[in-house]
Amino acid sequence: MSSGSKTTLSVIKADIGSLAGHHKVHPDTMLAASRVLAEGKNSGIIIDYYVTHVGDDLQLIMTHRRGPNDSKVHELAWNAFREATKVAKELGLYAAGQDLLSDSFSGNVRGLGPGVAELEFIERPSEPITIFMADKTEPSAFNLPLYKIFADPFNTAGLVIDPKLHAGFVFTVLDVYEGRAVDMRTPEELYDLLALIGTTSRYVVKYVHRKDGEPAAVVSSERLNLIAGKYIGKDDPVMIVRAQSGFPALGEILEAFAFPHLVAGWMRGSHAGPLMPVGQKDAKMTRFDGPPRVLGLGFNIKDGRLVGPTDLFDDVAFDEARRLAQEITEYMRRHGPFMPHRLGPEEMEYTTLPDVLKKLESRFRPFDLGYKPIIRHEELLEAGGGSG
Ligand code: F6R
Ligand code: MG
Ligand code: MG
Repeated sequence: MSSGSKTTLSVIKADIGSLAGHHKVHPDTMLAASRVLAEGKNSGIIIDYYVTHVGDDLQLIMTHRRGPNDSKVHELAWNAFREATKVAKELGLYAAGQDLLSDSFSGNVRGLGPGVAELEFIERPSEPITIFMADKTEPSAFNLPLYKIFADPFNTAGLVIDPKLHAGFVFTVLDVYEGRAVDMRTPEELYDLLALIGTTSRYVVKYVHRKDGEPAAVVSSERLNLIAGKYIGKDDPVMIVRAQSGFPALGEILEAFAFPHLVAGWMRGSHAGPLMPVGQKDAKMTRFDGPPRVLGLGFNIKDGRLVGPTDLFDDVAFDEARRLAQEITEYMRRHGPFMPHRLGPEEMEYTTLPDVLKKLESRFRPFDLGYKPIIRHEELLEAGGGSG
């Protein structure tokens, strides 16, 4: 799919195995992926690339002229993940190949495991873009920041005082259970929008467009657990946001991450915790396999070339957000296995609840005023309970 002079930015990610647990991508796997992308650059499939990671997720950032969903670009990414997986297996890395759900590539990585965010646009004379990559959480983790960036005047001053932003934006909201989407205009439909995207277990902001049709943001939305029909790995999300001159300023985009809001994911994909903005050096998962983290990289794109990156959260201005995230981590962790730290049963990735319920099924009795608890051990055994 060739789109002439338009530039496409493709961010494709997968967990193909990591060091010392679900912790951190090994540099040798990044090298293996980079070699494949270098070949793709030499052969002209892509213009430029940058390989990075957040936690256990390998991130391929690529530019080209072929449009979104291009089979050659997707095949290149697939081959990069395959080569990286080979290295992961050689090194005995943990969960090697976990996100590559199929042995064969069929024209598009969607549905095969990797997460994808792609944006096609005509480059402005200067094209500043930001890429946010999160680990130990899910695509709807970006609902709140996207709302703040594109619809909240207390976050984004430009919505009020910049004529180019004043008209507002259009949010495309995906219902991940039904596989359908709805486009909602802001500020006109703010309350209705919030009614949907506050339900983060079901609704995901997929795109944001300016009202003249210019694409502003895109989020990966592949839900591995639904695709595979069973839990394979968390669908840790990526997002692209264009900045400046008709879009929110870089600082307005970053401002949305100064509040470490609660997201679902963390340990065993089954806990709520704060989304902590970090620099590349802290893009690894430690405490309770987290806390969930987001890495932000800024680039300029010039004739398809990736200029940069700059490590956006590697700055003292985000120290307070990190400190607050640590405090929230401490507070949430002290709930142990209790909700709302532990997610509700319908959202947990790991659960023993059906087994526990099955075991107790014969022991549940109608409850009324005459109910007598079974206390004595012998009676408990008779009723099928106790551990002997
Ligand atoms: C969450 C995640 C980790 C693992 C946890 C247990 O998305 O990747 O928190 O769920 O480390 O992993 P296993 O079951 O592989 O030992
Ligand atoms: Mg993992
Ligand atoms: Mg991950």
